Amino acid sequence: MGTEIYYFTGTGNSLFVAKTIAEKIGDSKVISIPKVIKQDTIDVSGMVGIVCPIYMYNMPLIVVDFIKKIKRPEYLFIVFAGGGETGNCIKLAQKLCESRQIELSSAFNIKMPSNYTPFGATPEKKQQEYLSAAFKKIEEIAQIVNSKTKYIEKSSTGFLKSNLIPGLFYQLGYKFIRSLAKSYFADEKCNGCAICQKVCPVDNIRIANGKPVWNSHCQQCYACLQWCPQEAIQSGKKTARIKRYRNPYVKVNEIIESAR
Ligand SMILES: Cc1cc2nc3c(=O)[nH]c(=O)nc-3n(C[C@H](O)[C@H](O)[C@H](O)COP(=O)(O)O)c2cc1C
Ligand code: SF4
Ligand code: SF4
Repeated sequence: MGTEIYYFTGTGNSLFVAKTIAEKIGDSKVISIPKVIKQDTIDVSGMVGIVCPIYMYNMPLIVVDFIKKIKRPEYLFIVFAGGGETGNCIKLAQKLCESRQIELSSAFNIKMPSNYTPFGATPEKKQQEYLSAAFKKIEEIAQIVNSKTKYIEKSSTGFLKSNLIPGLFYQLGYKFIRSLAKSYFADEKCNGCAICQKVCPVDNIRIANGKPVWNSHCQQCYACLQWCPQEAIQSGKKTARIKRYRNPYVKVNEIIESAR
């Protein structure tokens, strides 16, 4: 039986990682979580992987929902393709799996360029460094997964960033993620092309009078802001001056295809 690798992505990092792991382990297929999440239960068996970003030191909400809907696979692995601020996301994933009587067999972090534009862009040189290092790490992950070894990576951030700060973020932001898109707006550069609507993985955008309007079930994936060809979408005042990020190995059509 082959491996199913489920992914969630906004700017392509997780799709890039999922595709590359699939290539390395062979006999695998990659499946977009938004495409299956509306099912009441998600039938998985054999070897199953999850690849996703980190949001506020935690899993994306849609990944939490996904784990709550899957049945017990033979071997489950998770790869966080985050921006390096891992916090306790692996422990949180483990806890969630345990509460569902699912064993998380292996878990990894891969440091990727950040797509959280309000904190600034990862410099180009650093982006290249992270992507080259990612290829190497994926080789190691593929070996561990192929041999069905149990391996849970430790958090790379210290006590403060693994426990205290994530706890604070959870209180302040995580619970409100779905409504945070209220800070988004399209500026005068918007030409009504509707790409933002098409890349949104949870159908949170509609176009009204030639401009996007955001609803309140956002995942904070930043796909709309990052893939807008006009760089017209802003989140607050700072983002207009900051360079956009999109994974160089992923095309906008793959994101549109992943979203629906
Ligand atoms: C709202 C938001 C919050 C984020 N929070 C974190 C975080 O707490 N830790 C971290 O390492 N990266 C964080 N990131 C960065 C992403 O996890 C990272 O860039 C990821 O590779 C993006 O994956 P994607 O391209 O598949 O969407 C955040 C990004 C966004 C948009
Ligand atoms: S992708 Fe950008 S330019 Fe196109 S409709 Fe959305 S905001 Fe406007
Ligand atoms: S509205 Fe934008 S940030 Fe929110 S889920 Fe859709 S694409 Fe992602």
